[in-house]
This record gives sequence, C-alpha cells and structure tokens, in this order.
Amino acid sequence: MADIGTDISVARNILQKGDLVAIPTETVYGLAGNALDVDAVAKIFEVKNRPSFDPLIVHIADFKELSKYAMTIPPQAERLAKAFWPGPLTMLLRRRSIVPDLVTSGLDTVGIRCPNHPLTQSLLRSIDFPLAAPSANPFGFVSPTKATHVTDQLGSKIKYVLDGGPSKIGIESTIVGFDGNKTIVHRLGGIPIEDLETIIGKVELITSPTALKAPGQLKSHYSPGKRLFIAELDKTIDLVDLDRVALLSFSTDYKAKHQVILSASQDLTEAAKNLFDALRRLDKMPVDLILAEFVPDTGIGMAINDRLRRAAAK
Ligand code: TXA
Ligand code: MG
Repeated sequence: MADIGTDISVARNILQKGDLVAIPTETVYGLAGNALDVDAVAKIFEVKNRPSFDPLIVHIADFKELSKYAMTIPPQAERLAKAFWPGPLTMLLRRRSIVPDLVTSGLDTVGIRCPNHPLTQSLLRSIDFPLAAPSANPFGFVSPTKATHVTDQLGSKIKYVLDGGPSKIGIESTIVGFDGNKTIVHRLGGIPIEDLETIIGKVELITSPTALKAPGQLKSHYSPGKRLFIAELDKTIDLVDLDRVALLSFSTDYKAKHQVILSASQDLTEAAKNLFDALRRLDKMPVDLILAEFVPDTGIGMAINDRLRRAAAK
C-alpha cells in the first residue's frame, strides 16, 4: 500500500529511480514519472490502464523551461503563460524530439503545463527532468482531488503519494492549442474561457470527440460507477424514489435523504472544488442512481457542466 506523506526527498528518490509517485496540483492529483524516461512513462500507462493513444501532459516548474520541450512558442501562448502560469492551463505546442513519442502518443504536439502547488513546485525544482502526469485515477474514472482518493484506487500500484491537501481548483486544467492566429480550447477546465479572452481576445471552443483524438474529450469520461442522470430537479424530484436515488444539487432548494450539495452559497469556484469528491461520495451511497442538475453555464461553471455531461454519458 502506498505511503501518504509530505516528504519531497522521498518523492524525488522514487522519481530518480524511474518509478512513479502521485503528486498534488491545484487542479487534481497527478500520477507522475520522469517524462524523458520511456520506461517510467510506460509505467504510467500500465498503472492507469490507459490506452497508449492518449497522450500525457508534461509538467515544468517555470515558463523558462518551455523552450526545452516546445519547438515554437506562438505569441498568444507566451501571453497566456505570462498571465496564467503557474496555473490550470495546458498548452499544446510543437514538440522537440527530446520528448518521447510515448508521451505524445506520436503526435507532433506536446501538452505542457506549469502547476501551481508549493510542494510540486519544490519537487520540480529539485529534479532535472520534467514530469509526465495524467490525473492519478484508473482510465475513464473520476480524477482525484485528495491523497486518499489516489490510494483508494491506485494504492497497491504505487509507492508514495505526496500529500498536498485537497486540490484548490478541483477540476482539470484548461487545454488550448494554436492554429495560425487562432487559439482553440480543446478541454474546458480551471481557467474559464472569459479569462483567456481578456488576454488574447476571441478563442474557439472545439471539444467534440470527433474533432480531436484526445480521450479527455471522449463522450464518456470522468465517470463514477453509478449511472448519473442530469435533469431539472424541480420537474423530476417528485417522480423519483428518494430512497433509491441520490441528488447532486447546486442549489439548496432541494432536500433528500441521500444528497451532496456542491455549494450552499452557490459559489461556482467552491462547486468546482467539491465536484469530484461529491461524485465519489455519491458513488458509495446505498442508491441505484444519481440525479444531478447543471450549474450556471458561466465561468468555471462551463467546465463543471462539461464534466457532468461526460459523467452522465455511457
Ligand atoms: O489538470 C490537469 O491537466 C491534470 C493535472 C495532473 O495536471 N492532468 C490531466 O491529465 O488532467 P490527463 O492525462 O488526465 O488529461 C490530459 C488530457 C487528455 O485528454 C489527453 O488526451 C490530452 O490532455 N492531451 C495531452 N497531450 C495532448 C496532445 N499533444 N494533443 C491533444 N491532446 C492532448
Ligand atoms: Mg484524466
């Protein structure tokens, strides 16, 4: 069983030997290995049971390191990095050949991000390689936002979880790519579209599963084990058996025996932070299904609704 601790040198030693550790970030916990070591990267795919066609994000400590792994840095990318790094933004950039094929699944772009968490920042600064890290959950399942979420599912497969407390943002990074002058959002996430647009103007949103080969965009992803349905609760709550159904609600207007409220004060930031823990808790309740409502589709609410939609898809 993996140890949970806060010792950076333990994490560093494991990584330097080519093994994996789970690391905290502000978005979700990552399953990290040396991004330049193909054997370590292969272990990530194995532990997650992740298909090799699904590329990994490379984590660096600082913008200054970006040009080691990215061939070209478009001006919009530089402006976004200056505005949002360290933070929940991943950029897809033409990769240099130092980045192994296995990391990018053979694509000519690599996803790079600079995470904003003090422990992981110190860890990255103490090693001389970047960290490939997908979310630390079995493929297709809900991402972990606490150390114990990681050990619940991957505890027997890794040695150490670096415990940085609950993830502050709670939803994965926003992924953007660049096509000429266009900036394309491939995954909604911790940085809202509105915030990107204040820095670089209009962006395009292309997250349909057919538009990109990235499985984070698969229709069914981020799934809890139980069936999840999305509905307007005011129209459905009287129609269901509340002994057998759990509610995932944003507002406090509804009361049920089995329920998680995302934010009693209806704060979207708090709701994002609670979302994945809520899905895990609902999954353990003695019910047959989960009934959820959308949150307001603005700011980080768009990313929450995106994850709810994918959790509902089967
Ligand atoms: O917040 C996050 O991004 C977290 C933390 C740990 O940093 N990581 C994360 O990684 O969510 P993962 O592997 O669970 O999701 C990354 C997504 C996948 O859907 C993958 O297909 C996509 O990013 N991706 C990575 N590199 C890509 C590339 N070169 N082109 C297109 N999609 C890419
Ligand atoms: Mg993931």
